[in-house]
Amino acid sequence: MDRKIELERYARESEECKKCSLWKIRKNVVFGAGSPFSKILFVGEAPGYNEDVRGIPFCGKAGEVLDILLDSVSLKREDIYITNIIKCRPPNNRDPEKEEVDACRYYLEKQIEIINPSVICCLGRHALKYILERFSFSQKGSITALHGKVLENSQDIFNRTSVVALYHPAVAVYDPGKMELLKKDFQVLKNLKDG
Ligand code: URA
Ligand code: SF4
Repeated sequence: MDRKIELERYARESEECKKCSLWKIRKNVVFGAGSPFSKILFVGEAPGYNEDVRGIPFCGKAGEVLDILLDSVSLKREDIYITNIIKCRPPNNRDPEKEEVDACRYYLEKQIEIINPSVICCLGRHALKYILERFSFSQKGSITALHGKVLENSQDIFNRTSVVALYHPAVAVYDPGKMELLKKDFQVLKNLKDG
């Protein structure tokens, strides 16, 4: 089955989703965007105000930072696929709750299956936690310890997915002084992409 059609099928399904209570306050489901054929999957946290209004991931201030970071390693939005751990905006941008992550994983799992990426970039601690557990990584650890690193899964030799831990771009919205650190971490993608 064609990847694009498959993804569209689940995107349509998500538009009717009531698996957790966030459906009550959403304006739009933010399913994901980018190339279904990308080798690189980016996973953020949850839609914010702008994303909820437009139904597009990372289309606000954090998205502007992300675009600068992508550009610094010669990547465009069309070269990647990007989504979030949960697809509807939490009230006042609070952290996703466990029940929401558990309910919404249905869609993220479909996206991972369909796109079958060779690199998964976790943007921030929520994505990192999810992906480390998902792939049974032996590493446990905070984003502060693991940012900028490519994580290897020593337990599953058949699993060829590399996981990259990155700070959430919103970090540089609140503290522009962090931009250089974020750019430095992104360089790890250049090596993966070129090598
Ligand atoms: N922050 C996220 O984690 N995801 C978005 O789509 C926008 C902001
Ligand atoms: Fe459904 Fe996910 Fe939205 Fe909850 S956050 S209503 S599980 S799409």
